[in-house]
Amino acid sequence: MNKSLRKAVIAGNWKMNKTPSETTALINEMKPLVANADCDVVVCVPYVDLQAALDATKGSNIKVGAENCHWGKSGAFTGEISTQMLTEMGVEYVIIGHSERRTYFGETNVTVQKRVRAALDAGLKVILCVGEYLEQREQGVTFEVVSEQTKIALGGVSKDELKNIIIAYEPVWAIGTGKTATAEQANEVNHAIREVIAKLYDKAAADAFVVQYGGSMNAGNADELLAQEDVDGGLIGGASLKAKDFSEIVKAASK
Ligand code: 13P
Repeated sequence: MNKSLRKAVIAGNWKMNKTPSETTALINEMKPLVANADCDVVVCVPYVDLQAALDATKGSNIKVGAENCHWGKSGAFTGEISTQMLTEMGVEYVIIGHSERRTYFGETNVTVQKRVRAALDAGLKVILCVGEYLEQREQGVTFEVVSEQTKIALGGVSKDELKNIIIAYEPVWAIGTGKTATAEQANEVNHAIREVIAKLYDKAAADAFVVQYGGSMNAGNADELLAQEDVDGGLIGGASLKAKDFSEIVKAASK
């Protein structure tokens, strides 16, 4: 099956949680629990926690990511962080286009595209988030919304660069609500995203492309979600803040 062509990625998105000292403690607790993972393991943490995360993960199989980046190299952008600042620290991943950025901080498909471009140019691996609001699902336009977000974000991205991008499908109504998409709903949209990739590039690129699911994924529902043909991992919010819960999801992805 095509799924075997892809290595699952389980990434934690800590959002605005944990101080540097709490970061060290949580990662130290996590390390032995995920050491035997047969999937990629990433923790995306607040900017001020990056150094603590990099120090604590040294020599382990846990990779470190940021939760956003700016598209400019430097300049008058108060409060922003450039890709070069991240790569110089040793950060490998960056989340771009999370729905919380789109909803609360004015992120648009166009600014997402600019951030993706800058991240790829800097050699970062991108976790690109797409997903519909509840009203959009109810109106029956989920595929259109997710397809447009995907196409615009990937504008100007070459086939070769795709190896440095994964997409996280995160239905906004499932984030932090405890309301998970059913395994079928997740698989259906993930499959549609893969078809967009196939159309934009080709089938081989689509078969190799990692599409995660995110939205109230936890130790209890991870098995079923991750068993789906088109679900290649997860982007985990709340459950990534508890070492045991996160490691259970990593275990489910390693089966
Ligand atoms: P929850 O797992 O807390 O629903 O958050 C999902 C998410 O937004 C990950 O980016």
